[in-house]
Amino acid sequence: MKGIILAGGSGTRLSPSTDSINKHLLAVFDKPMIYYPLSILMLAGIKEVMIISTPEDKPRFEKLLGDGSSLGITLTYRVQTEPNGIPEAFIIGEDFIGNDDVTLILGDNIFYGQGFTNLLRKAINHHEHATIFGYRVKDPRRFGVVEFDSNQKVVSLEEKPDDPKSDFAVTGLYIYDHKVVDIAKRLNFSQRGELEITDVNKEYLKRNKMHVQLLGRGFAWLDAGTHDALFEAAEFVKNIQQRQGFKLACLEEIAFYLGYITKEELREKGEAMKKTDYGQYLLEIAQRKHTQQYWDSIDQNPILGLVQND
Ligand code: TTP
Repeated sequence: MKGIILAGGSGTRLSPSTDSINKHLLAVFDKPMIYYPLSILMLAGIKEVMIISTPEDKPRFEKLLGDGSSLGITLTYRVQTEPNGIPEAFIIGEDFIGNDDVTLILGDNIFYGQGFTNLLRKAINHHEHATIFGYRVKDPRRFGVVEFDSNQKVVSLEEKPDDPKSDFAVTGLYIYDHKVVDIAKRLNFSQRGELEITDVNKEYLKRNKMHVQLLGRGFAWLDAGTHDALFEAAEFVKNIQQRQGFKLACLEEIAFYLGYITKEELREKGEAMKKTDYGQYLLEIAQRKHTQQYWDSIDQNPILGLVQND
């Protein structure tokens, strides 16, 4: 399974904050926005990730995250010259995807909820052809809407419908087989001049190969595409972190609990950033009495929950 984070776009709704910098490098409370989708791909167990951004911003992402080795993963970077639409990610990533399956996440999407790692890993392990994630929203008319039967088989997909057939929006997280590349290549531009992800999903639906995984009310799905949404996302992250003492999307913590980096490497990272709350957090994890082996031995890895036995 390969992973792609789509972090291009124009970010016009966040102007002037995005006039000179890519939206996904803006902070959501205490870390850059891109950390959140990357954390999701890491939690899903994906170790090869391609980050697609704009020509101007590619070096900034490279500076921030490097080749991924300090997190025990492999990161590569590619450019989308114009925001031609989400499916272009599969055309840009054709060589990277090869014959593998691919999980795509939009760079401004934040997912959080108990059991999400488990759910995602199960969705990946049991996935065939195409899986999207549906989330109940108050105003489905603003979203791509999915209608489904009792087996979570997709019945219809509509983009921003006037009369939605369900209350479930399609989130910015998608799992496909490698055929998605050919499907993306054969798409036509829509009236708004973009390749549309809904058209990709409709093609899988036509082939009777489209599944939806529903996210229940215990999950949070946020995007950070407007100033209000960005502020709300930051508040959400701050509140959860302060209440629980756990950080969301702390990439080094995830890498440590997944066994990708050692406790010593975690401590070194913490030391290098020790003037910050983030650095102190890494040091605190490195000092915790419960070692990773302990968590593993009782199948209670704090990141993975019970997923190892799945
Ligand atoms: P959008 O929110 O649709 O677009 P945007 O980020 O350019 O913002 P705005 O509407 O304010 O101009 O994009 C959703 C996500 O997908 C976002 O993370 C950017 C990414 N994206 C790309 O990287 N390339 C694209 O061609 C498109 C359409 C989106």
